[in-house]
Amino acid sequence: MAWFRRRGKAAQTVEHIADDQTSVEEAEDTAVADNIQPSTDSVKAVSSKPVLLVKGVERSFPVGGQQLHVLKGIHMELREQQLVMLRGRSGSGKTTLLNLIGGLDLPTKGEIVFRDRPIHTWSDDRRTHIRRKEIGFIFQSFALMPLLSAWENVELSLRMADVPRSQWKERVQQCLELVGLGKRMHHRPYEMSGGEQQRVAIAKAIAHRPSLILADEPTAELDSQMGAQVMNVFQDIIQKEQMTICMTTHDPTILEVADHVYEMVDGKFIAG
Ligand SMILES: Nc1ncnc2c1ncn2[C@@H]1O[C@H](COP(=O)(O)OP(=O)(O)OP(=O)(O)O)[C@@H](O)[C@H]1O
Ligand SMILES: [Mg+2]
Repeated sequence: MAWFRRRGKAAQTVEHIADDQTSVEEAEDTAVADNIQPSTDSVKAVSSKPVLLVKGVERSFPVGGQQLHVLKGIHMELREQQLVMLRGRSGSGKTTLLNLIGGLDLPTKGEIVFRDRPIHTWSDDRRTHIRRKEIGFIFQSFALMPLLSAWENVELSLRMADVPRSQWKERVQQCLELVGLGKRMHHRPYEMSGGEQQRVAIAKAIAHRPSLILADEPTAELDSQMGAQVMNVFQDIIQKEQMTICMTTHDPTILEVADHVYEMVDGKFIAG
C-alpha cells in the first residue's frame, strides 16, 4: 500500500459489506484512532450534485428459454468528483451494471438518470450521442488502437466527440501529461508497458472532457505498483478535471482510496 496517496478515511463510506466486516471496522478504527474530522471530501460527498442515479434497476437475460435475473433491484448514486467502487465476486453483476450506467444496455426494470435526464427511456442513437460527449470508458484490456501512437489514440476520441480540430493539439498534450506520459507521446501500444498503455487509455477516456468515467477492472492486468499509479492518476483527474469515476474491482487493496464502496453479491448490494 506504500504507493497510494491516501484519501481521508473519514471520507469513505463502505456500503453493505456482507461476509467481510473488516473494511467497516478498519475504517471506524482508523477514524477513531486518528481523530479525523470530516474532511473536505466527505463534505463534498454530501453537498455535491448527483451525476447519476440508479433507481430500482433490474436486468434479466433470456437464457435457454428462461429468464436469468442478473441484477435484482439496484439503487445507487454517483456524485460530482467522487471515486466510487463496485466490488464483488466474478459473475455478481458488476459489468452488467456498468453497461447500464453507461447507456450501452437498457434495464429490464427501473430508472437510470444521468444529470437529470432519464437515459433508460432514450433511443440507441440518443444514448450513443450522450456517451460520446459526456461519458468516458476504460476497460481492463486497455482497448487501444494498436497501430496508432499514444498521441493518435487520444486524438481519436476528440474526433469521435466532434471536438473542433483547433483544440486537439493542446488537449492531447494536456491529457498525456496529466497521466504522466509526456515522454511517451509518440510510442505505439506495443512500445509501452501495461501501466503506460492503461494510462494512454485513461488519457483517451478523459480527452473530450466527459463528466463521468466508467472503468471496468482497470487495474486487473497490472501489477500492484502499476495499479497504484493508475489509482493516483484517477485521483488527479477527479481533482484537476472535476470528473466522477465509477470503477469495478476485485482488488481489496485499492478500496481504501474510494469515496464510496458498493459491495455486490448475486445481483444486489447487500445490507451490512
Ligand atoms: N448478455 C448476457 N446474456 C446472458 N447472461 C449474461 C449476459 N451478460 C451477463 N450475463 C450473466 O450475468 C452474470 C453477471 O455477469 P457480469 O459480467 O455482470 O459479472 P461481473 O460481476 O462483471 O463478473 P467479473 O468479475 O467476472 O467480470 C453472469 O452470470 C453472466 O453470465
Ligand atoms: Mg466484469
